[in-house]
Amino acid sequence: MREWDSFNEIVKAKGMWITDSDGNSLLDGVASMWCNVWGHSKPELVNAITKQSKKLQHSSMFNLTNQPAEKLAESLVKISPGMHKVFYSDNGSSAMEIAFKIALQYWNNIGDKKKTKITALENGYHGDTFGAMAVGYVPEFFGKFKKQLFPTIQIPVPNKYRIPMGYNYFDYQNFCIDKIEKQFSEDDKIAAFVMESGAQVAGGVNIFPKGFQRKIGKLCKKYNVLLILDEIATGFGRLGSMIQYTEQKSIPDIVAYGKMLTGGYLTMAATLTNKKIYESFLGEFNDWKHLFHGHTFTGNPISAAVANENLKLYQKNNLIKKIQKTSKVFEKYYDKITEIDTVGDIRHKGMLMGIELVKDKKKKTPINPKKSINKIFFEAGKKHGIYLRTLGNIVMLVPPLAISEEELDLLLNRTIDTIKSAQNQII
Ligand SMILES: Cc1ncc(COP(=O)(O)O)c(C=O)c1O
Repeated sequence: MREWDSFNEIVKAKGMWITDSDGNSLLDGVASMWCNVWGHSKPELVNAITKQSKKLQHSSMFNLTNQPAEKLAESLVKISPGMHKVFYSDNGSSAMEIAFKIALQYWNNIGDKKKTKITALENGYHGDTFGAMAVGYVPEFFGKFKKQLFPTIQIPVPNKYRIPMGYNYFDYQNFCIDKIEKQFSEDDKIAAFVMESGAQVAGGVNIFPKGFQRKIGKLCKKYNVLLILDEIATGFGRLGSMIQYTEQKSIPDIVAYGKMLTGGYLTMAATLTNKKIYESFLGEFNDWKHLFHGHTFTGNPISAAVANENLKLYQKNNLIKKIQKTSKVFEKYYDKITEIDTVGDIRHKGMLMGIELVKDKKKKTPINPKKSINKIFFEAGKKHGIYLRTLGNIVMLVPPLAISEEELDLLLNRTIDTIKSAQNQII
Protein backbone atom coordinates (compact mmCIF):
# COMPACT_ATOMS: atom_id res chain seq x y z
CA MET A 1 0.00 0.00 0.00
CA ARG A 2 2.92 2.36 0.65
CA GLU A 3 3.47 2.59 -3.11
CA TRP A 4 0.10 4.29 -3.44
CA ASP A 5 0.60 7.59 -1.68
CA SER A 6 -2.11 9.24 -3.74
CA PHE A 7 -4.74 8.38 -6.30
CA ASN A 8 -5.96 10.32 -9.29
CA GLU A 9 -9.46 11.53 -8.67
CA ILE A 10 -11.67 10.92 -11.69
CA VAL A 11 -14.22 13.69 -11.96
CA LYS A 12 -15.91 13.04 -15.29
CA ALA A 13 -15.82 10.76 -18.30
CA LYS A 14 -17.11 10.82 -21.84
CA GLY A 15 -16.86 8.18 -24.52
CA MET A 16 -13.66 6.18 -24.08
CA TRP A 17 -11.96 8.91 -22.01
CA ILE A 18 -11.84 9.47 -18.26
CA THR A 19 -10.71 12.83 -16.87
CA ASP A 20 -9.06 13.51 -13.52
CA SER A 21 -9.27 16.55 -11.26
CA ASP A 22 -6.11 18.04 -12.84
CA GLY A 23 -7.80 17.93 -16.23
CA ASN A 24 -5.75 14.99 -17.59
CA SER A 25 -7.69 12.69 -19.91
CA LEU A 26 -6.85 8.99 -20.10
CA LEU A 27 -8.04 6.51 -22.70
CA ASP A 28 -9.85 3.80 -20.72
CA GLY A 29 -8.01 0.52 -21.40
CA VAL A 30 -9.67 -1.18 -18.44
CA ALA A 31 -13.34 -0.46 -19.29
CA SER A 32 -13.72 0.69 -15.67
CA MET A 33 -12.86 -2.82 -14.39
CA TRP A 34 -13.97 -4.73 -17.51
CA CYS A 35 -17.60 -3.63 -17.41
CA ASN A 36 -18.00 -0.58 -19.62
CA VAL A 37 -19.79 -1.32 -22.89
CA TRP A 38 -20.58 1.93 -24.73
CA GLY A 39 -18.07 4.31 -23.25
CA HIS A 40 -18.95 6.84 -20.59
CA SER A 41 -21.92 9.24 -20.46
CA LYS A 42 -23.90 7.41 -23.15
CA PRO A 43 -27.06 9.55 -23.38
CA GLU A 44 -29.51 6.64 -23.73
CA LEU A 45 -28.17 4.97 -20.57
CA VAL A 46 -28.03 8.21 -18.61
CA ASN A 47 -31.64 8.91 -19.66
CA ALA A 48 -32.77 5.44 -18.59
CA ILE A 49 -31.29 6.07 -15.14
CA THR A 50 -32.80 9.55 -14.86
CA LYS A 51 -36.23 8.44 -16.03
CA GLN A 52 -36.44 5.46 -13.69
CA SER A 53 -35.01 7.38 -10.74
CA LYS A 54 -37.97 9.78 -10.94
CA LYS A 55 -40.48 6.92 -10.73
CA LEU A 56 -39.18 4.24 -8.38
CA GLN A 57 -35.67 4.29 -6.95
CA HIS A 58 -35.76 1.11 -4.99
CA SER A 59 -38.34 -1.40 -3.90
CA SER A 60 -37.32 -4.69 -2.40
CA MET A 61 -37.84 -8.08 -4.01
CA PHE A 62 -38.95 -9.51 -0.69
CA ASN A 63 -42.65 -10.31 -1.29
CA LEU A 64 -42.66 -7.75 -4.12
CA THR A 65 -41.44 -7.29 -7.64
CA ASN A 66 -41.00 -4.38 -10.04
CA GLN A 67 -41.55 -3.86 -13.72
CA PRO A 68 -37.96 -3.15 -14.91
CA ALA A 69 -36.65 -6.24 -13.08
CA GLU A 70 -39.44 -8.42 -14.52
CA LYS A 71 -38.77 -7.17 -18.02
CA LEU A 72 -35.03 -7.74 -17.66
CA ALA A 73 -35.54 -11.30 -16.42
CA GLU A 74 -37.65 -12.05 -19.49
CA SER A 75 -34.97 -10.66 -21.80
CA LEU A 76 -32.16 -12.55 -20.03
CA VAL A 77 -34.00 -15.85 -20.30
CA LYS A 78 -34.70 -15.14 -23.97
CA ILE A 79 -31.02 -14.63 -24.83
CA SER A 80 -29.79 -17.55 -22.69
CA PRO A 81 -30.55 -20.92 -24.28
CA GLY A 82 -31.66 -23.53 -21.76
CA MET A 83 -32.21 -21.05 -18.93
CA HIS A 84 -35.57 -20.60 -17.25
CA LYS A 85 -35.43 -18.27 -14.21
CA VAL A 86 -33.34 -15.39 -12.89
CA PHE A 87 -32.07 -14.61 -9.39
CA TYR A 88 -30.74 -11.05 -9.00
CA SER A 89 -27.88 -9.76 -6.89
CA ASP A 90 -25.72 -6.67 -6.97
CA ASN A 91 -22.22 -7.92 -7.82
CA GLY A 92 -20.50 -10.82 -9.54
CA SER A 93 -19.11 -12.45 -6.40
CA SER A 94 -22.61 -12.66 -4.92
CA ALA A 95 -24.00 -14.03 -8.18
CA MET A 96 -21.45 -16.86 -7.94
CA GLU A 97 -22.14 -17.49 -4.25
CA ILE A 98 -25.80 -17.81 -5.20
CA ALA A 99 -24.91 -20.23 -7.98
CA PHE A 100 -23.01 -22.46 -5.52
CA LYS A 101 -25.82 -22.36 -2.97
CA ILE A 102 -28.46 -23.16 -5.58
CA ALA A 103 -26.39 -26.09 -6.90
CA LEU A 104 -25.73 -27.55 -3.46
CA GLN A 105 -29.31 -27.11 -2.32
CA TYR A 106 -30.65 -28.58 -5.56
CA TRP A 107 -29.24 -32.01 -4.65
CA ASN A 108 -30.57 -31.64 -1.12
CA ASN A 109 -34.01 -30.66 -2.43
CA ILE A 110 -34.25 -33.74 -4.65
CA GLY A 111 -33.08 -35.99 -1.82
CA ASP A 112 -29.54 -36.78 -3.02
CA LYS A 113 -27.83 -35.54 0.13
CA LYS A 114 -24.44 -37.06 -0.58
CA LYS A 115 -23.70 -34.62 -3.41
CA THR A 116 -21.91 -31.85 -1.54
CA LYS A 117 -18.57 -31.27 -3.27
CA ILE A 118 -17.58 -28.59 -5.75
CA THR A 119 -15.02 -29.11 -8.50
CA ALA A 120 -13.41 -26.23 -10.38
CA LEU A 121 -10.52 -25.34 -12.66
CA GLU A 122 -7.22 -24.27 -11.17
CA ASN A 123 -6.58 -20.58 -11.60
CA GLY A 124 -10.24 -19.77 -12.12
CA TYR A 125 -11.50 -16.56 -10.52
CA HIS A 126 -15.06 -16.08 -9.30
CA GLY A 127 -14.85 -13.12 -6.91
CA ASP A 128 -13.48 -12.07 -3.53
CA THR A 129 -16.06 -13.37 -1.04
CA PHE A 130 -15.35 -16.55 0.93
CA GLY A 131 -17.24 -19.05 -1.24
CA ALA A 132 -15.90 -17.43 -4.39
CA MET A 133 -12.36 -17.59 -2.98
CA ALA A 134 -12.76 -21.27 -2.12
CA VAL A 135 -13.96 -22.18 -5.60
CA GLY A 136 -11.89 -19.72 -7.65
CA TYR A 137 -8.74 -20.22 -5.69
CA VAL A 138 -5.92 -18.04 -7.07
CA PRO A 139 -3.07 -18.75 -4.59
CA GLU A 140 -1.44 -15.32 -5.01
CA PHE A 141 -4.68 -13.56 -4.13
CA PHE A 142 -6.15 -15.80 -1.45
CA GLY A 143 -3.33 -17.82 0.10
CA LYS A 144 -3.69 -15.95 3.40
CA PHE A 145 -7.23 -17.24 3.88
CA LYS A 146 -6.59 -20.83 2.85
CA LYS A 147 -7.35 -22.28 6.26
CA GLN A 148 -10.78 -20.69 6.38
CA LEU A 149 -11.87 -21.79 2.90
CA PHE A 150 -14.09 -24.84 2.41
CA PRO A 151 -12.38 -27.61 0.45
CA THR A 152 -12.90 -27.83 -3.30
CA ILE A 153 -11.41 -30.11 -5.94
CA GLN A 154 -9.16 -28.17 -8.30
CA ILE A 155 -8.44 -29.58 -11.76
CA PRO A 156 -5.44 -28.43 -13.84
CA VAL A 157 -6.11 -26.27 -16.86
CA PRO A 158 -4.21 -26.09 -20.16
CA ASN A 159 -2.26 -22.89 -20.77
CA LYS A 160 -0.67 -22.97 -24.22
CA TYR A 161 2.33 -20.86 -23.17
CA ARG A 162 3.18 -22.88 -20.09
CA ILE A 163 2.63 -26.57 -20.79
CA PRO A 164 4.30 -28.91 -18.26
CA MET A 165 7.39 -30.80 -19.49
CA GLY A 166 6.69 -33.94 -21.45
CA TYR A 167 3.39 -32.77 -22.95
CA ASN A 168 2.34 -30.88 -26.03
CA TYR A 169 -0.70 -28.57 -25.90
CA PHE A 170 -3.04 -31.17 -27.32
CA ASP A 171 -1.87 -33.99 -25.00
CA TYR A 172 -2.18 -31.71 -22.01
CA GLN A 173 -5.79 -30.83 -22.86
CA ASN A 174 -6.57 -34.55 -22.92
CA PHE A 175 -4.71 -34.98 -19.63
CA CYS A 176 -6.94 -32.33 -17.98
CA ILE A 177 -10.13 -33.77 -19.45
CA ASP A 178 -9.11 -37.28 -18.34
CA LYS A 179 -8.49 -35.94 -14.82
CA ILE A 180 -12.02 -34.56 -14.72
CA GLU A 181 -13.49 -37.82 -15.96
CA LYS A 182 -11.48 -39.78 -13.35
CA GLN A 183 -12.74 -37.48 -10.56
CA PHE A 184 -16.34 -37.72 -11.72
CA SER A 185 -16.25 -41.48 -12.20
CA GLU A 186 -14.63 -42.20 -8.83
CA ASP A 187 -16.56 -39.76 -6.67
CA ASP A 188 -20.35 -39.67 -6.70
CA LYS A 189 -20.39 -36.86 -4.12
CA ILE A 190 -19.57 -34.16 -6.69
CA ALA A 191 -22.44 -31.68 -6.90
CA ALA A 192 -21.14 -29.21 -9.46
CA PHE A 193 -18.31 -28.23 -11.77
CA VAL A 194 -17.55 -24.51 -11.91
CA MET A 195 -15.61 -22.65 -14.60
CA GLU A 196 -15.39 -19.31 -16.35
CA SER A 197 -16.94 -19.51 -19.79
CA GLY A 198 -14.55 -19.23 -22.72
CA ALA A 199 -11.48 -17.97 -20.87
CA GLN A 200 -9.98 -17.38 -17.47
CA VAL A 201 -9.54 -13.64 -17.25
CA ALA A 202 -8.18 -12.67 -13.81
CA GLY A 203 -6.20 -15.92 -13.72
CA GLY A 204 -3.99 -14.68 -16.56
CA VAL A 205 -6.06 -14.32 -19.76
CA ASN A 206 -6.02 -18.02 -20.48
CA ILE A 207 -8.26 -18.61 -23.50
CA PHE A 208 -9.63 -22.15 -23.54
CA PRO A 209 -8.76 -24.31 -26.54
CA LYS A 210 -11.60 -25.12 -28.90
CA GLY A 211 -13.74 -27.97 -27.62
CA PHE A 212 -12.36 -27.93 -24.06
CA GLN A 213 -15.46 -26.43 -22.43
CA ARG A 214 -17.78 -28.56 -24.58
CA LYS A 215 -16.00 -31.72 -23.43
CA ILE A 216 -16.37 -30.68 -19.79
CA GLY A 217 -20.08 -30.03 -20.37
CA LYS A 218 -20.47 -33.51 -21.84
CA LEU A 219 -18.74 -35.10 -18.84
CA CYS A 220 -21.02 -33.20 -16.47
CA LYS A 221 -24.06 -34.67 -18.25
CA LYS A 222 -22.56 -38.17 -18.34
CA TYR A 223 -21.79 -38.22 -14.61
CA ASN A 224 -24.78 -36.22 -13.37
CA VAL A 225 -22.77 -33.21 -12.18
CA LEU A 226 -24.23 -29.69 -12.51
CA LEU A 227 -22.31 -27.31 -14.77
CA ILE A 228 -22.01 -23.76 -13.40
CA LEU A 229 -20.61 -21.24 -15.87
CA ASP A 230 -19.29 -17.83 -14.88
CA GLU A 231 -19.89 -15.38 -17.74
CA ILE A 232 -19.41 -12.32 -15.56
CA ALA A 233 -16.30 -11.19 -17.39
CA THR A 234 -16.59 -13.12 -20.66
CA GLY A 235 -20.26 -12.85 -21.61
CA PHE A 236 -22.10 -9.97 -23.29
CA GLY A 237 -19.57 -9.60 -26.10
CA ARG A 238 -16.22 -9.46 -24.32
CA LEU A 239 -15.00 -12.54 -26.22
CA GLY A 240 -16.94 -11.68 -29.37
CA SER A 241 -20.26 -13.41 -28.75
CA MET A 242 -23.26 -12.34 -26.74
CA ILE A 243 -23.48 -15.51 -24.70
CA GLN A 244 -20.14 -17.28 -24.65
CA TYR A 245 -21.56 -20.71 -23.80
CA THR A 246 -23.49 -20.87 -27.08
CA GLU A 247 -20.21 -20.38 -28.95
CA GLN A 248 -18.61 -23.03 -26.73
CA LYS A 249 -21.54 -25.39 -27.31
CA SER A 250 -21.90 -26.13 -23.61
CA ILE A 251 -25.30 -25.40 -22.11
CA PRO A 252 -24.90 -24.98 -18.34
CA ASP A 253 -27.36 -25.74 -15.56
CA ILE A 254 -26.57 -22.41 -13.93
CA VAL A 255 -24.94 -19.29 -15.39
CA ALA A 256 -23.95 -15.95 -13.86
CA TYR A 257 -23.80 -12.53 -15.54
CA GLY A 258 -22.56 -9.24 -14.11
CA LYS A 259 -20.17 -6.46 -15.13
CA MET A 260 -21.57 -5.52 -18.57
CA LEU A 261 -25.20 -6.24 -17.71
CA THR A 262 -25.93 -2.56 -17.01
CA GLY A 263 -23.47 -1.30 -19.63
CA GLY A 264 -21.11 -0.89 -16.69
CA TYR A 265 -23.10 1.99 -15.17
CA LEU A 266 -24.74 0.50 -12.08
CA THR A 267 -24.24 -2.46 -9.88
CA MET A 268 -26.22 -5.56 -10.77
CA ALA A 269 -25.63 -9.25 -11.39
CA ALA A 270 -27.84 -12.21 -12.23
CA THR A 271 -27.76 -15.95 -11.67
CA LEU A 272 -29.87 -17.95 -14.12
CA THR A 273 -30.92 -21.58 -13.78
CA ASN A 274 -32.62 -24.13 -15.96
CA LYS A 275 -36.14 -25.41 -15.32
CA LYS A 276 -35.05 -28.63 -13.62
CA ILE A 277 -33.20 -26.70 -10.93
CA TYR A 278 -35.88 -24.06 -10.48
CA GLU A 279 -38.58 -26.67 -10.02
CA SER A 280 -36.61 -28.47 -7.31
CA PHE A 281 -37.13 -25.37 -5.14
CA LEU A 282 -40.93 -25.55 -5.42
CA GLY A 283 -42.80 -27.09 -2.51
CA GLU A 284 -45.10 -26.44 0.42
CA PHE A 285 -43.85 -23.99 3.04
CA ASN A 286 -42.88 -26.66 5.52
CA ASP A 287 -40.96 -28.65 2.88
CA TRP A 288 -38.27 -25.97 3.40
CA LYS A 289 -37.17 -26.19 -0.18
CA HIS A 290 -36.84 -22.47 -0.86
CA LEU A 291 -33.52 -20.68 -1.11
CA PHE A 292 -32.61 -18.62 1.94
CA HIS A 293 -30.82 -15.89 0.11
CA GLY A 294 -31.59 -12.25 -0.60
CA HIS A 295 -29.79 -8.94 -0.71
CA THR A 296 -31.21 -5.52 0.12
CA PHE A 297 -30.68 -4.21 -3.40
CA THR A 298 -31.72 -7.36 -5.24
CA GLY A 299 -33.56 -6.40 -8.44
CA ASN A 300 -33.02 -2.67 -7.99
CA PRO A 301 -35.32 -0.94 -10.51
CA ILE A 302 -32.81 1.75 -11.61
CA SER A 303 -30.15 -0.89 -12.29
CA ALA A 304 -32.72 -3.02 -14.11
CA ALA A 305 -33.92 -0.04 -16.17
CA VAL A 306 -30.41 0.78 -17.37
CA ALA A 307 -29.78 -2.93 -18.07
CA ASN A 308 -32.93 -3.05 -20.20
CA GLU A 309 -31.78 -0.03 -22.19
CA ASN A 310 -28.31 -1.56 -22.51
CA LEU A 311 -29.74 -4.77 -24.00
CA LYS A 312 -31.86 -2.72 -26.39
CA LEU A 313 -28.73 -0.90 -27.57
CA TYR A 314 -26.89 -4.19 -28.21
CA GLN A 315 -29.65 -5.09 -30.69
CA LYS A 316 -30.11 -1.65 -32.18
CA ASN A 317 -26.40 -1.14 -32.83
CA ASN A 318 -25.63 -4.73 -33.76
CA LEU A 319 -22.86 -4.53 -31.20
CA ILE A 320 -21.67 -8.14 -31.41
CA LYS A 321 -21.02 -7.81 -35.18
CA LYS A 322 -19.22 -4.52 -34.53
CA ILE A 323 -17.02 -6.13 -31.86
CA GLN A 324 -16.14 -8.97 -34.22
CA LYS A 325 -14.93 -6.42 -36.78
CA THR A 326 -13.22 -3.97 -34.42
CA SER A 327 -11.41 -6.69 -32.50
CA LYS A 328 -9.46 -7.55 -35.67
CA VAL A 329 -7.47 -4.37 -35.00
CA PHE A 330 -5.66 -6.28 -32.22
CA GLU A 331 -4.30 -8.73 -34.82
CA LYS A 332 -2.45 -5.97 -36.69
CA TYR A 333 -0.30 -5.45 -33.61
CA TYR A 334 0.65 -9.07 -32.79
CA ASP A 335 4.10 -8.80 -34.40
CA LYS A 336 4.90 -5.36 -33.03
CA ILE A 337 4.02 -6.45 -29.50
CA THR A 338 5.80 -9.81 -29.70
CA GLU A 339 9.01 -8.06 -30.80
CA ILE A 340 9.27 -6.19 -27.49
CA ASP A 341 12.14 -7.61 -25.37
CA THR A 342 10.07 -8.50 -22.31
CA VAL A 343 6.98 -9.84 -24.08
CA GLY A 344 6.81 -13.62 -23.78
CA ASP A 345 3.30 -14.26 -25.08
CA ILE A 346 0.17 -12.53 -26.25
CA ARG A 347 -3.29 -14.01 -25.87
CA HIS A 348 -6.26 -12.42 -27.54
CA LYS A 349 -9.91 -13.06 -28.16
CA GLY A 350 -12.58 -10.47 -28.96
CA MET A 351 -12.09 -7.38 -26.85
CA LEU A 352 -9.60 -8.98 -24.47
CA MET A 353 -5.85 -9.14 -24.77
CA GLY A 354 -3.28 -10.33 -22.26
CA ILE A 355 0.39 -9.56 -22.81
CA GLU A 356 2.60 -11.76 -20.64
CA LEU A 357 5.85 -10.14 -19.61
CA VAL A 358 8.90 -12.29 -18.89
CA LYS A 359 12.47 -11.77 -17.78
CA ASP A 360 13.95 -14.07 -20.40
CA LYS A 361 12.00 -14.67 -23.61
CA LYS A 362 13.69 -17.98 -24.48
CA LYS A 363 13.46 -19.51 -21.02
CA LYS A 364 10.05 -17.90 -20.30
CA THR A 365 11.41 -16.85 -16.89
CA PRO A 366 8.69 -15.08 -14.88
CA ILE A 367 9.36 -11.55 -13.66
CA ASN A 368 9.86 -11.14 -9.95
CA PRO A 369 10.10 -7.40 -9.32
CA LYS A 370 10.51 -5.57 -6.01
CA LYS A 371 7.80 -3.04 -6.91
CA SER A 372 4.32 -3.86 -8.15
CA ILE A 373 4.23 -4.21 -11.93
CA ASN A 374 0.74 -2.78 -11.85
CA LYS A 375 1.99 0.44 -10.24
CA ILE A 376 4.90 0.78 -12.69
CA PHE A 377 2.70 0.32 -15.75
CA PHE A 378 -0.15 2.40 -14.39
CA GLU A 379 2.23 5.36 -13.92
CA ALA A 380 3.87 4.79 -17.32
CA GLY A 381 0.45 4.42 -18.95
CA LYS A 382 -0.65 7.74 -17.46
CA LYS A 383 2.35 9.46 -19.03
CA HIS A 384 1.18 8.08 -22.39
CA GLY A 385 -2.45 9.13 -21.81
CA ILE A 386 -3.95 5.69 -21.11
CA TYR A 387 -5.52 3.98 -18.11
CA LEU A 388 -3.79 0.62 -17.89
CA ARG A 389 -3.87 -2.09 -15.26
CA THR A 390 -1.79 -5.23 -15.10
CA LEU A 391 -2.59 -8.40 -13.22
CA GLY A 392 0.71 -9.74 -11.99
CA ASN A 393 2.97 -9.93 -15.02
CA ILE A 394 0.12 -9.69 -17.54
CA VAL A 395 -0.65 -6.35 -19.17
CA MET A 396 -4.36 -6.50 -19.80
CA LEU A 397 -6.21 -4.67 -22.53
CA VAL A 398 -9.93 -4.72 -21.81
CA PRO A 399 -11.39 -1.64 -23.53
CA PRO A 400 -15.06 -0.61 -23.57
CA LEU A 401 -16.75 -2.90 -26.09
CA ALA A 402 -17.92 -0.16 -28.44
CA ILE A 403 -14.48 1.40 -28.84
CA SER A 404 -13.85 2.58 -32.40
CA GLU A 405 -11.10 1.14 -34.59
CA GLU A 406 -9.23 4.46 -34.42
CA GLU A 407 -9.35 4.56 -30.64
CA LEU A 408 -8.27 0.93 -30.39
CA ASP A 409 -5.33 1.72 -32.69
CA LEU A 410 -4.43 4.55 -30.36
CA LEU A 411 -4.75 2.34 -27.27
CA LEU A 412 -2.51 -0.34 -28.79
CA ASN A 413 0.14 2.11 -29.98
CA ARG A 414 0.22 3.81 -26.59
CA THR A 415 0.38 0.43 -24.82
CA ILE A 416 3.39 -0.56 -26.91
CA ASP A 417 5.10 2.74 -26.06
CA THR A 418 4.20 2.26 -22.39
CA ILE A 419 5.68 -1.24 -22.22
CA LYS A 420 8.85 -0.13 -24.00
CA SER A 421 9.29 2.84 -21.71
CA ALA A 422 8.68 0.92 -18.48
CA GLN A 423 10.17 -2.51 -19.09
CA ASN A 424 13.63 -1.60 -17.79
CA GLN A 425 12.06 -1.07 -14.35
CA ILE A 426 10.85 -4.66 -14.06
CA ILE A 427 13.81 -6.80 -15.11
C1 LIG B 1 -15.03 -14.20 -13.91
C2 LIG B 1 -15.40 -13.34 -12.76
N1 LIG B 1 -16.29 -13.79 -11.86
C3 LIG B 1 -16.67 -13.04 -10.81
C4 LIG B 1 -16.14 -11.79 -10.60
C5 LIG B 1 -16.56 -10.98 -9.40
O1 LIG B 1 -17.35 -9.93 -9.75
P1 LIG B 1 -17.50 -8.65 -8.79
O2 LIG B 1 -16.19 -7.93 -8.83
O3 LIG B 1 -18.61 -7.87 -9.40
O4 LIG B 1 -17.83 -9.16 -7.43
C6 LIG B 1 -15.22 -11.29 -11.52
C7 LIG B 1 -14.62 -9.94 -11.31
O5 LIG B 1 -13.67 -9.55 -11.91
C8 LIG B 1 -14.82 -12.08 -12.61
O6 LIG B 1 -13.90 -11.67 -13.49
